[in-house]
Amino acid sequence: MDRVETGISGLDEVLDGGIPVHRHVALNGGPGACKTSFSFEYIYRGAQKGENGIYITLEETPEDIIENMTESFPGFKDMQQLIDDGKLEIVKPDKLLLEDIAELLEDRIAKNDIKRAVIDSATMIKLAFKDPSEYRQTMFEFFSLLRNLDITAIMVVEAPNQDLASSAFEIEHFVMDGIINLYNLGKADQRVKAVEVYKMRGTNHRREKIPFKVTPNGIKVFVGEKVF
Ligand SMILES: Nc1ncnc2c1ncn2[C@@H]1O[C@H](COP(=O)(O)OP(=O)(O)OP(=O)(O)O)[C@@H](O)[C@H]1O
Ligand SMILES: [Mg+2]
Repeated sequence: MDRVETGISGLDEVLDGGIPVHRHVALNGGPGACKTSFSFEYIYRGAQKGENGIYITLEETPEDIIENMTESFPGFKDMQQLIDDGKLEIVKPDKLLLEDIAELLEDRIAKNDIKRAVIDSATMIKLAFKDPSEYRQTMFEFFSLLRNLDITAIMVVEAPNQDLASSAFEIEHFVMDGIINLYNLGKADQRVKAVEVYKMRGTNHRREKIPFKVTPNGIKVFVGEKVF
């Protein structure tokens, strides 16, 4: 099966080569777990190697994202150039409707050959629904549509706390092909960031929690190292 190399150091090894192409992944984590940094690097690495990407931000403005990512990743020196060249698009839609997001994706695929997409976050979309069953139905329809698009997408999902094992699985976890969990674990008086591929249809993958760090040149996943 063809893979989309995330380009995040160590992560492709965890995924046995990368995310299987056209599979869609939920990126799950508590507050400050690096969901935005992880998913942004996925788009950035794609843009660098000629796979155009779109980062759909539903909460922060594109200016916020650029500012925060420049701060976290000063080594991403070609970021602004990739944005100027249209290889890396950061878009904040006016409305939080999935129909509008679907339309935006279709438009950018047709006009800018987008291959990678991030939606940050599903939780923001959910807030726009009063009725949970209506949200589930709309999400389901949205993913049926995603299946027919020539992209490999990451959907950020905000977990209410760090203890992901205790948080209930939502519709997005069942309809998505993969789930990647990000943790901010307590270790003595410090915190260790860790990543876990919880499920990924279509590929073998490691199953343990693996420590990672945010470095100026990107996220580094330390495959083979233990969290504790
Ligand atoms: N160089 C760094 N080393 C360690 N941690 C960092 C570094 N840079 C940023 N962080 C941490 O990562 C967090 C931000 O990551 P990011 O915005 O990707 O998280 P997030 O999961 O998207 O957060 P939110 O829940 O606010 O959306 C910061 O709040 C900070 O605690
Ligand atoms: Mg975020």
